[in-house]
Amino acid sequence: MRIHMIIPVLTTATTLFEPAPLLAQDAGDVGHGREIAQTICSACHVVAKGQLVSPNSEAPPFPALAATPGMTVMALTAALLTSHRRMPNIILQPDERRDVIAYILSLK
Ligand code: HEC
Repeated sequence: MRIHMIIPVLTTATTLFEPAPLLAQDAGDVGHGREIAQTICSACHVVAKGQLVSPNSEAPPFPALAATPGMTVMALTAALLTSHRRMPNIILQPDERRDVIAYILSLK
């Protein structure tokens, strides 16, 4: 009888505490994404709101990408996984890609 009362409490505790880190991971780490953007992508793209001049006028500024209607994690993932005519194929690890996408979308 006593055991039956304890088990539901434990189960509830785990379901309450587990989703938070999982969600945070899915959403990407904006701070790390900003670092990647500043070290890799800024060679061509405007990567921050205050930055006015794009090193490469053909590369869309990240704030503009973020403001594009319908821009989602899915659309950016697809964009980064397909090759572009004038953008070199930069190989990002899946977690780096997720973080940089989280950063771009944080500019909305
Ligand atoms: C050497 C220059 C260069 C670097 C470095 C670069 N880009 Fe680009 N990127 C471009 C150019 C030029 C375009 C636009 C033309 C094209 O799509 O090829 C572009 C387009 C894009 C687009 C829009 C694609 C689309 O389908 O509309 C995204 C998203 C993007 N870049 C993300 C990134 C990210 C994230 C990084 C850093 C990890 C990065 N770029 C690094 C040059 C670059």
